[in-house]
This record gives sequence, C-alpha cells and structure tokens, in this order.
Amino acid sequence: MDTPRELFLHELSDMLSAEHIIAKTLGELTSETQHDEIKAAFKEHGAESKEQIKRLQEAFKLLGEKPEDTTCHAAEGLRQEHEALHEEQPSPEVLEMGNLLGAAKTEHYEIASYTGLVQIARDLGEREVADLLKQNLDEEQAMAKRIVDFTKMTGKEAKQAMREQEKAEKAAAR
Ligand SMILES: [Fe+2]
Repeated sequence: MDTPRELFLHELSDMLSAEHIIAKTLGELTSETQHDEIKAAFKEHGAESKEQIKRLQEAFKLLGEKPEDTTCHAAEGLRQEHEALHEEQPSPEVLEMGNLLGAAKTEHYEIASYTGLVQIARDLGEREVADLLKQNLDEEQAMAKRIVDFTKMTGKEAKQAMREQEKAEKAAAR
C-alpha cells in the first residue's frame, strides 16, 4: 500500500464490514432493552445502518472500485465485548447499562472513522463521496447524543432502585 487513495479504499472497506457487524449487534441490543424508548432508538439506528451500508456501496461505485473482502477487527472486538458481558450473567439493569456503554463506544468508533474518511475524501477531491460519508457521520453523532441521554435516564433509575432497596432493608430491620 503506497498511496493515500489505497489507504482510503481499505478504510472504506473496513467501514463496510463494521456496519454489517454493527447492524447485527443493534438487532440484539433492540431485543435486550427493557425500555421502549431505547428499543425504538436502537431499531431506528439499525435501519439507518442499512442505509449507511448503501451509501458506502454508492461511494465505491462513484470511485469506480469494488470493496475489499475484509473484517473490521475493531467492530468485531466490540461485538465480542457484548458477548463477554452476557457471559457475566448480568442482572437486567446491569445489562441495560453495559449495553448502552458498549453502544456509546461503538458510536464513537464510527464517529472517529467517518470523521477521518470525510477528511481524506475531501483531500482526494472526491466531494460526492465526502458528502455521502458526512451523512453517515451526522447519523452516528445524533445516535451518540441519544445514548448519552439514555445513560442519564437509566442511571437515575438505578439510583432510585438502590434507594428503595435501602429503605426496604431498613424497614425490615426495624
Ligand atoms: Fe452507528
């Protein structure tokens, strides 16, 4: 690999792999959450991921290239983290928090990747490709913000549940 364009194509292939892996994980997260609001967000982002895959494929067409058959090791690693969490047999509340944490990490990985790809596409003079990637970037940023809100919401609930448990324990000890 000698040219920025070759690196760009490789990174683009990597993102295509990442989006496929992430779309699958999002399906799992959708069925695992106890919250309707979070379920809806994961479902929507799952649908967005499919559109993002189409944009990446469109980008390859515009570049007159075919994607490399590659696996995104980072996305694969994040998927394995999700599996590892299950192996710990978490309570529903802990699974909820762990899944949100994992989702936040995933979005930030995607944000970093697309930010770099948009920049390189612009540097290479591929404006249409840059515009497509920017759309993906915007969706990832919006999702990351929603996850922050969900983390605050579930954190408050966990605190409330802990307080109630303490109260119940005190009452039982009387
Ligand atoms: Fe995403």
